Amino acid sequence: MTSPIRVAVTGAAGQICYNLLFRIASGEMFGKDQPVILQLLEIPVEAVQNALKGVAMELDDSAFPLLQDIICTGDEQVAFKDANWCLLVGSKPRGPGMERADLLKDNGKIFIGQGRAIDAVAADDCRVAVVGNPCNTNCMIGASQCKRIGPERWTAMTRLDQNRAVSQLAQKAGVPITAVENLIIYGNHSPTMFPDFANARINGAPVSDVISDHQWLRETFIPTVGKRGAAIIEARGKSSAASAANGLVDHVRDLMTPSPVPHSICVPSTGAYGFSEGVWASVPVITTAPGTYEVVQGVELDDFAKEKIALTNAELVSERDTVKDML
Ligand code: NAD
Ligand code: LMR
Repeated sequence: MTSPIRVAVTGAAGQICYNLLFRIASGEMFGKDQPVILQLLEIPVEAVQNALKGVAMELDDSAFPLLQDIICTGDEQVAFKDANWCLLVGSKPRGPGMERADLLKDNGKIFIGQGRAIDAVAADDCRVAVVGNPCNTNCMIGASQCKRIGPERWTAMTRLDQNRAVSQLAQKAGVPITAVENLIIYGNHSPTMFPDFANARINGAPVSDVISDHQWLRETFIPTVGKRGAAIIEARGKSSAASAANGLVDHVRDLMTPSPVPHSICVPSTGAYGFSEGVWASVPVITTAPGTYEVVQGVELDDFAKEKIALTNAELVSERDTVKDML
């Protein structure tokens, strides 16, 4: 049998992980023939560690054939030890009326310690995906503390936003989800993100040919996608959880599966598409080998797109300024 991979997951007793862990254990993230060992981190508080034990009991009770072991811990050095993937979910979610950037001061410092622990003990081939908000800048903080695992192996998640955008376009056009292709999110996981409808296709045709209401595309579609997280909080009283877990399953699975199909992830910018060097910006990537991507070059962006990208870049730069003492 294939040897197991070690998957460290933080915030493991939280609401995203209550969905995520079961999907990892069932093989949806790494494949139906890839055994996994889950290394679950939670804060070292008795009640939370008890809740984590309960989650582990439920994983046991699911009798997943691919799940070879579960480690529950409050110690980062144990959680990240020899980890091939680190999924950094653990951090505070925002409440109603907050922006994700309001979490920066509280959540940012979590990623200093975790970046250092990953540097110290994770496997040499380790890859990291950051979900905890604000995820782009938290990812930058973690990567800045981790010299052994290079920045190109630190990614943050905008796949939930891509999925939201695809779903909105499919509903508006009255087509199945599978008819929508090449929808890429640019920039920050925040209301400034830019879902690039101009280069997306519906049944192979440009979106603006299929959806004739261009005002809707510019004035309703973009803010609906950008503010969907807040809309979920408003409706549920809690931030998205199952759809966030689903986004992460898609993010990691597509990053592990070589394919010419582009997908959106936040990676360290080298200046492409107008992003400042060194910020973690969402761009189109293709997966060239398991865990390895290339940024798609040469996508044509019109002036409208360039203006939107300039705004989301300015926000990323300002978040970087806010945390400069953590880098
Ligand atoms: P939650 O409050 O239900 O769970 C978070 C868990 O993290 C808690 O159990 C908490 O004890 C734990 N935690 C806190 N600090 C930790 C640390 N230092 N180490 C390990 N665990 C720690 O929150 P949730 O709904 O699961 O959301 C988690 C994060 O994901 C939030 O920041 C949320 O905003 C973010 N999020 C991001 C996206 C995205 O698309 N990028 C989508 C949804 C949610
Ligand atoms: C989301 O997009 O649903 C998450 O980032 C949670 C939030 O705060 O919006």
